Amino acid sequence: MPQGPVRARGTRTIAVANQKGGVGKTTTAINLATGLAACGQSVLVVDLDPQGNASTGLGVSEYETDVYDVLIGGGRFEDVICRSEIPGLDVAPASADLAGAEIELIDIPHRESRLRETLAPVLGRYDYVLIDCPPALGLLTINALVAADSVLVPLQCEYFALEGMTRLMKSIERIRRAYNESLNIQGIVLTMYDSRNNLCRSVEADVRAHFNDRVYKTVIPRNVRLSEAPSYGKPALVYDLACSGAQAYARLAAELLRREGVGPIGEAAE
Ligand SMILES: Nc1ncnc2c1ncn2[C@@H]1O[C@H](COP(=O)(O)OP(=O)(O)O)[C@@H](O)[C@H]1O
Ligand SMILES: [Mg+2]
Repeated sequence: MPQGPVRARGTRTIAVANQKGGVGKTTTAINLATGLAACGQSVLVVDLDPQGNASTGLGVSEYETDVYDVLIGGGRFEDVICRSEIPGLDVAPASADLAGAEIELIDIPHRESRLRETLAPVLGRYDYVLIDCPPALGLLTINALVAADSVLVPLQCEYFALEGMTRLMKSIERIRRAYNESLNIQGIVLTMYDSRNNLCRSVEADVRAHFNDRVYKTVIPRNVRLSEAPSYGKPALVYDLACSGAQAYARLAAELLRREGVGPIGEAAE
């Protein structure tokens, strides 16, 4: 099996992953993607969670085929891609069928690299591909990590956050050794942050001490507008751009671009 993602020059594929549920993966995928598109990047969100929250949160709820049909059914990625209402932002939606893929993939050749292989033909159309992972380290998340150049980890500042990170880092290391030697950490973003909460602040200090500059300076505050937006099928950046959550994700997009040397202020990459 080839090492490293089959990657069109210039496309960056980022898996948004954390085996814990409810830490802000989908919220981050939706709003970071929107922030990147607002900065002029062409972006594809691949929904790899059978719950399909990234799809509905981006207003994509009616579609004929989905990522399941590509991974298992032999369909083509380009037939699955839908446009969102945000210019420059496309979505490859997921349906509940994808839940079966965890099991069905087991019997398929190259089961770990189905996503990498099927995604390759459309990569060249995008500057960024964000993969919204399910809350488990099963075959779907493995497919995301094999297809990705890097992993972006949303981390909720709570007890045991660091223990969860250690597990995730071990899985990333295993994927790196077996399938994708160039996989790296895009960054860690602290989500649902509440600066008045002592535990939050102390977990933040631990995470920053441990992971240093891999932790984004931008933190995402707890903000009810972020949780309201999906029920309107809109990213928070469209639903209420002025809210603190939307502003934080806009800053996160700018920080991510800046770190890669394509930021609005044109700072060199770190
Ligand atoms: N910063 C935030 N402030 C308030 N609510 C949030 C925030 N981030 C996520 N949520 C809400 O928390 C829940 C879990 O977030 P979600 O992004 O779906 O997590 P995951 O994809 O990791 O399971 C959702 O209801 C979401 O709307
Ligand atoms: Mg999710």
